[in-house]
Amino acid sequence: MSEDVFKKIISHCKEYGFVFQSSEIYDGLSAVYDYGQMGVELKNNLKRYWWDSMVLLHENVVGIDSAIFMHPTIWKASGHVDAFNDPLIDNKDSKKRYRADVLIEDHLAKIDDKINKEVEKAAKRFGESFDETMFRQTNPRILENQAKRDEIHSRFAKALNDNNLDELRQIIIDCEIVCPVSGTRNWTEVRQFNLMFATEMGSTADGAMKVYLRPETAQGIFVNFLNVQKTGRMKIPFGIAQIGKAFRNEIVARQFIFRMREFEQMEMQFFVRPGEELDWFAKWKETRMKWHKALGYGDNKYRFHDHDKLAHYANAATDIEFEMPFGFKEVEGIHSRTDFDLASHEKFSGKKLQYFDPELNKSYTPYVIETSIGVDRMFLSTMAASYAEEELEGGESRVVLKLPAALAPIKLAVLPLVKKDGLPEKAREIIDSLKFDFKCQYDEKDSIGKRYRRQDAIGTPYCVTVDHQSLEDNTVTIRYRDTMQQERVTIDKLSDIISDKVSMKNLLKTIG
Ligand code: GAP
Repeated sequence: MSEDVFKKIISHCKEYGFVFQSSEIYDGLSAVYDYGQMGVELKNNLKRYWWDSMVLLHENVVGIDSAIFMHPTIWKASGHVDAFNDPLIDNKDSKKRYRADVLIEDHLAKIDDKINKEVEKAAKRFGESFDETMFRQTNPRILENQAKRDEIHSRFAKALNDNNLDELRQIIIDCEIVCPVSGTRNWTEVRQFNLMFATEMGSTADGAMKVYLRPETAQGIFVNFLNVQKTGRMKIPFGIAQIGKAFRNEIVARQFIFRMREFEQMEMQFFVRPGEELDWFAKWKETRMKWHKALGYGDNKYRFHDHDKLAHYANAATDIEFEMPFGFKEVEGIHSRTDFDLASHEKFSGKKLQYFDPELNKSYTPYVIETSIGVDRMFLSTMAASYAEEELEGGESRVVLKLPAALAPIKLAVLPLVKKDGLPEKAREIIDSLKFDFKCQYDEKDSIGKRYRRQDAIGTPYCVTVDHQSLEDNTVTIRYRDTMQQERVTIDKLSDIISDKVSMKNLLKTIG
């Protein structure tokens, strides 16, 4: 899928009420988005799928909803005050700010593009007899570019590992990277930039306290670990799940809802006995991949990306990546976080956060497996997987969102063939009997064909057309979104036909 399709998805999201730029009438607020009337339904369905898969399918996983504001020392204990940074650099001419690492990554991607174009050209020239591996290993221009790339990449990886900001700047200078706006190489030093948003709580007269907007929901779970364990009489192993907003002052915020300044996370911390964490890590990796694949976007669209370099608190980490229109990108992180967070909160708060294990007859600080997925990235992958342009017979075409039926914002559209003769009333009657189970939409404007196209574009799996015959024999035509096939059924059968496919329960049964 190309960048071109990505642009179409973005405008489709706007045109059909899925996602709007925040504060649009004031020219927008960068990297902040609002979900529209269709978007909020799809987002709620995604959240419901995740939440139920956690708290219904696992007896030992419970949910919480902690506050966005938390005591500022929490962020000291978690390491976010000191280490949640991005390296940034300014161009003195354009006054534009960039992430130094992203400038270098983009430069590396350009070299990759050059190499790939060279290969594509040769493939066309040589046709069937083309041996790509051999070509890559022997072509002088490719070898030269590859060597250049490898050298920059190893310097870059070392600079990141050593936290060497001077070296990051030197790589930018040596690679002759220019500011995309001014076109100059007039760069400042590289500085660390903390990604947390801060604000003040309380009036200044009382002595206001600096508080942060949480950059992850996980800490709200850690600091409630004992509350939940004791009041819920939870036995290890057990998990706490939470869905909520998180905020990061991303320097380079782009790619639509992929990298936002305000976003939503679905996180679960699973508390286990020390020493058993790697087995649980493997189990949760498998469970989470199954959850993704059950949506039917195509197994080849997913891959694990195991981390080579682990954060100081982790002893295993992987990302679930999805093939977005702009390449494979992280949608979910799964980390074995050891006892780092709980132990650190014990130290900073002076309160014990231990669990007495009756089977072992001893107390310990539990180890934690974390699964953390971004709702907005899940939304984007759903859109990317579902968006299709199809050529139809007779030279027509349609844009259809092939959303999993359980996630579709509208499950059923009811369309009277004409706006008279009692057909609208009959259509309303059908909606009134089904509205308690399914989100229905009534539409009487324009031709039936146009109305079908509108429903295809928002991913409605079923359209029901009410005609004059319906008044006589209580039958309607049901049309299926993906096949566009139609059949005549009695109105009392509708509920069974629809619920079979749109039910969240049936989707959950495929993984539970
Ligand atoms: N508690 C662990 C944690 O927050 P993370 O890898 O920084 O880990 C987890 O974030 C997930 O949150 C990511 O996989 C991604 O889906 C989502 N996410 C992170 N930053 C984001 C941003 N700026 N915009 C949208 N989603 C984001």
